Amino acid sequence: MSLEYPMILITGAAGKTGRAVIRALVSRGQVVRALVHRPEQARPVKELGVQEVVTGNLSDAEAVGQAARGSQAIYHICPNMHPDEAVVGQAVIAAARSAGVPHLIYHSVLHPQVEAMPHHWHKMQVEEQLFKSGLSYTILQPAAYMQNVLAQWNSIVQEGVYPVPYRVETRLGMVDLNDVAEAAAIVMTEGGHAGATYELAGAEALSQIEVAAVLADCLGRPVRAERVEIEAWEQRARASGLGSYQIETLVKMFRYYEQHDFWGNPRVLGWLLGRPPTTFAGFCRNAREANPLIGTL
Ligand SMILES: NC(=O)c1ccc[n+]([C@@H]2O[C@H](COP(=O)([O-])OP(=O)(O)OC[C@H]3O[C@@H](n4cnc5c(N)ncnc54)[C@H](OP(=O)(O)O)[C@@H]3O)[C@@H](O)[C@H]2O)c1
Repeated sequence: MSLEYPMILITGAAGKTGRAVIRALVSRGQVVRALVHRPEQARPVKELGVQEVVTGNLSDAEAVGQAARGSQAIYHICPNMHPDEAVVGQAVIAAARSAGVPHLIYHSVLHPQVEAMPHHWHKMQVEEQLFKSGLSYTILQPAAYMQNVLAQWNSIVQEGVYPVPYRVETRLGMVDLNDVAEAAAIVMTEGGHAGATYELAGAEALSQIEVAAVLADCLGRPVRAERVEIEAWEQRARASGLGSYQIETLVKMFRYYEQHDFWGNPRVLGWLLGRPPTTFAGFCRNAREANPLIGTL
């Protein structure tokens, strides 16, 4: 396969999104440079098969500029719920322009238009900056990842409870992060996607009761969805060391989900992948195979 870009820079590379995108790119033979935050993140990222790893702060325009030099495309992943996402986005756009990087691919989110969710709204502002930047751009807007459920995996497997901080009737159109990463790699290696904005949603908009039913079926044991009061969730999040801005942002997101649901149409993702997006049942099967806790039941 002939690749479009000799070198692609990935920001936010050591996070779960970055690692998934790197795996998908490397499996297609793409040469990748990774920008990580802390020196200790370099080795595990390098082990994924990237060519070069650079360490730097995304808030440091000079560091981003240096990392961008010599690449032909940047895949920008902002750290999750970064309070200055719009500023960081502007710095990455400026770095691309000054380093002469022609194409910027932005990892946005489904429905960035929603002002009630700050981490969505900041992405809308970055998208607007991109339109005005003169760069060639592609915007990917993934729904909430199925992988977020893994944070509750122990409770699901050991207690048969899937806890959610919103009504159990809330419908979410979760998407498999591995599908998102594969779509990102296709967009970056196959060409023809300049100027595109793609919504990447999963195949089903499931209520949390239905999510629990799929989990139960997959694990072969009863699992029930249980609503956790926001105050209790906040307390636990604070105890785990999550920052105030991130807690406030997540609470706003949970309230939005509860009021309006959060889902999209899966056809764009299916078209990019050339196959139907992974169902939640398919994701659970993969998670069960990968998770040793299952064997202890
Ligand atoms: N989770 C979802 O369901 C979902 C759905 C759609 C879109 N998204 C979007 O996907 C993006 C990535 O999410 P994620 O969960 O993969 O991210 P993440 O796990 O928060 O990872 C981001 C990486 O960026 C690093 N980082 C933090 N601050 C930095 C800084 N100032 N300069 C450079 N690097 C820094 C982090 O390192 P440290 O460990 O040092 O902090 C981490 O390695 C977010 O913008 C999110 O909104 C997420």
